[in-house]
Amino acid sequence: MGQFSEPLAVQFVQRAEVRPGQRALDVGCGPGALTTQLVDRLGAGAVAAIDPSASFVAAIGARFPDVDVRSGVAEQLPFRDDSFDLALAQLVVHFMTDPVSGLREMARVTRAGGVVAACVWDHAGQSGPLATFWQAVRDMDPGAHDESDLAGAREGHLAELCAAAELADIEPSKLTVRVEFATFDDWWEPYTLGVGPAGAYVAQLDEAGRDALRSRCAQRLPPGPFEVNASAWFVRARVRPVSLSTD
Ligand SMILES: C[S@@+](CC[C@H](N)C(=O)[O-])C[C@H]1O[C@@H](n2cnc3c(N)ncnc32)[C@H](O)[C@@H]1O
Repeated sequence: MGQFSEPLAVQFVQRAEVRPGQRALDVGCGPGALTTQLVDRLGAGAVAAIDPSASFVAAIGARFPDVDVRSGVAEQLPFRDDSFDLALAQLVVHFMTDPVSGLREMARVTRAGGVVAACVWDHAGQSGPLATFWQAVRDMDPGAHDESDLAGAREGHLAELCAAAELADIEPSKLTVRVEFATFDDWWEPYTLGVGPAGAYVAQLDEAGRDALRSRCAQRLPPGPFEVNASAWFVRARVRPVSLSTD
């Protein structure tokens, strides 16, 4: 999904209003699409990143030695209160075990008035990058479990999660990227790598099932080269000032 997450990260930092001089945390940094944009805008010394995957943590550490890269999850961030101006999660909320706790933790480590922002592909509205794949799966296997019920993957849900996490000034919107594929095989190949729910679905098919799904997907796409538009739900919110008790 790197073809999609890299252009998405460019839009994410613009919509989150990342500005020079700020300190930012990339939650669920993965292979680093968003980390790269943050380093470009803020400098490596102003960026921290965290991910539960040891291989991603090692890769980001090797690529950006001055980024503070940690191993861990959003729900238990190993950073002090008010450490950042922004805490950002690109394509991560739907993987969190407890998205509201994850967003609360992102707020805790961000200063009052700072930004918490997140995005998740529009899996429920059928405009995400996997829409053609899952439609082909449903054509053949109507009971298949797709990704449409994941946290944040439907319109308005990221805003609901931010409200539950007691964030303020919640502004939902949508990001759309366009990716070109030279051939159908360029589009299909990532699904064969066993990554994510779509990869897991392909991996459990036998060879005939995989060939049938591949053909069904090919019928749904134009001959190469072709472009795919993919949209993600986005939300930007602010951390409330701590209210002083008058008791
Ligand atoms: C689809 S990848 C997104 C990676 C990166 N943000 C990007 O846009 O390229 C999702 C990432 O979330 C990480 N992840 C899964 N559960 C998490 C959690 N509870 N807290 C933080 N990150 C998590 C995964 O290890 C993975 O690297």
